Amino acid sequence: MLDFIGNKKRTHLAENIKTSDVGQEVTVMGWVHRRRDLGGLIFIDLRDVSGFVQIVFNPENESVHAKAGKLRNEYVIAVTGKVLARDERNINADMTTGAIEIQASELLLLNDSAPLPVQINEKILADENLRLKYRYLDLRREKLRKIILMRHEIVFAIREFLTSNHFAEIETPMLMKSTPEGARDFLVPSRVHNGKFFALPQSPQIYKQLLMISGFDRYFQVARCFRDEDLRADRQPEFTQLDMEMSFVDQEDIFKIMEDLFKYVFKKTVDRDLEIPFPRLSYRDSMDRFGIDKPDTRFGMELNDISDIVAKSEFKVFSGALSTGGSVRCVVAPGCASYSRKNIDSLTDISKHLGGKGLAFVKMQDGGMNAGISKFMSEEEKTAIISRTGAQEGDLILFAADSNKIVFKVLAEIRNHFGRELKLYDKDEFNFVWITDFPLFDYNEDAGRWEAAHHMFTLPKEEHLKYFDNEADYGKIEGQLYDMVCNGMELSSGSIRCHRLDIQRKIFEVLGFSEEELEDKFGFFLNALKFGTPPHGGIAPGIDRLVMILTGAESIRDVIAFPKTLQAADLMSESPALVSSEQLSELGITKSTKKQKPEEE
Ligand code: AMO
Ligand code: AMP
Repeated sequence: MLDFIGNKKRTHLAENIKTSDVGQEVTVMGWVHRRRDLGGLIFIDLRDVSGFVQIVFNPENESVHAKAGKLRNEYVIAVTGKVLARDERNINADMTTGAIEIQASELLLLNDSAPLPVQINEKILADENLRLKYRYLDLRREKLRKIILMRHEIVFAIREFLTSNHFAEIETPMLMKSTPEGARDFLVPSRVHNGKFFALPQSPQIYKQLLMISGFDRYFQVARCFRDEDLRADRQPEFTQLDMEMSFVDQEDIFKIMEDLFKYVFKKTVDRDLEIPFPRLSYRDSMDRFGIDKPDTRFGMELNDISDIVAKSEFKVFSGALSTGGSVRCVVAPGCASYSRKNIDSLTDISKHLGGKGLAFVKMQDGGMNAGISKFMSEEEKTAIISRTGAQEGDLILFAADSNKIVFKVLAEIRNHFGRELKLYDKDEFNFVWITDFPLFDYNEDAGRWEAAHHMFTLPKEEHLKYFDNEADYGKIEGQLYDMVCNGMELSSGSIRCHRLDIQRKIFEVLGFSEEELEDKFGFFLNALKFGTPPHGGIAPGIDRLVMILTGAESIRDVIAFPKTLQAADLMSESPALVSSEQLSELGITKSTKKQKPEEE
């Protein structure tokens, strides 16, 4: 009972049929999205890549009407018919094609469909794991279809802008050497060289610098990156960067090209006018004001350092933190003095979850500072805190006292929590900010060594080179490092690179690499730096995150056609999966003798 397509040709996509087509004969092809059988008339919403159009089957055309009666959801059909204007009262304002319909004169049933394990209907969303198993069906949903098509528009606009600005897109290898770059590598065993491994790139960092050494000047790539790290709402093990690098530039040149690029892409894809240049904030100011290096600058509620005010506090929690070199800081939650014990306990839980010991509070009520820890405060302290924070009647003040690291972590999260809870921002706003002047190195207390704060190929500020002489000063060295943040999300990260071998070697020394390790891991790269390396720098916006921002998607999985779960698995193809012993032995890999679970044998 199925028909072949024969020489039937589609004349229109569903949503391309306009009221000006009324009276014309058209042929559309697609899926039965919805059907209503009103006894006499049968209505079908046909869905294709463009959207929807309504088809009506009249009982007068008996054979076609009878065939239409057998259609079920997701059957694939071709319909030929005349475009009719709908009566005024039948116009559907929710549908792009709501003013017309197609009166079917011919119906081909191109394929049927088994009953669906997940519905395409947006209103009843199945469990996400089930939807990921049937991802190809989930992608039929209008929301996902629009996001994935928008992703194409965004990448197209990026390529258009960069090409017209003399950037060349150059591919770099997927199989490369494993180098310590921050996250864990995904390894690929070599068959030809048994016992040896390639790594998948965490980013094309080294290759793009090599391309600058080769003289390419302006490079970009829509580059797949692979990182074996713990996943979150905005992280995937396999993701895409717009990787960029330029020669003979400084930080200002990179900011300018990025701002122009973003302005172009936002205008072209969502018709929004971004105001450029973006504001800038140094890393230190960002930490002081927001407690985080990716601040959501759409709202205030900034942090206040009150360490000096409570320096002599009788409250042990405060004096304890200060005596061990920490600080006491607070945020003011507007209008939240009415919070119950339970509300406040849940805020305290946020703090404890992040390693804080608690969250002290006071309420601005009954004409002054009351409740919570107010009994431990002198009148002078209260007055000074009110004047520093600008707290007003009805507000709730929340304090964290600890090492700076914990205080920042806790209050940044509390601030973001209130931003969402109290809807302190307009969710349609795009608020960009550059975070600059990051330290080059972080001291890892647990490991007892210095680590690269961003990555190790960054040029230190010229005036900070002197700090390399003394380990006590390493923490003062700032790099020409920058992040682009939008609405509290780190969207891009980059730096001016170390083009001089002598400085690059100093950096590796601070990081504690031995000569031998350096030679083994980076020998080829250090060697390349010897041969006339131009000053260069670059940046890499995360494309998945950019698409999230432009489409308002809440999960990174919504912007990737075939994403992995939070457990880094593909539920559809059921990977990762076991492989045959033949495959393993070809690679020279022997299975561990560890007892395996029965289903793995
Ligand atoms: P970085 O590691 O900061 O820098 O990455 C740059 C941008 O890539 C995105 N991103 C991710 N997106 C989704 N899932 C992930 N797991 C993930 N990890 C990173 C973010 C981030 O801002 N080579 C340097 C760039 C440079 O210096 O030019 C790099 O990779 O949006
Ligand atoms: P306690 O003296 O432990 O009963 O704590 C009194 C109040 O101070 C409670 O509201 C705790 O949540 C809070 N608190 C405890 N430790 C800290 C801290 N390090 N920073 C901020 N508040 C804290």
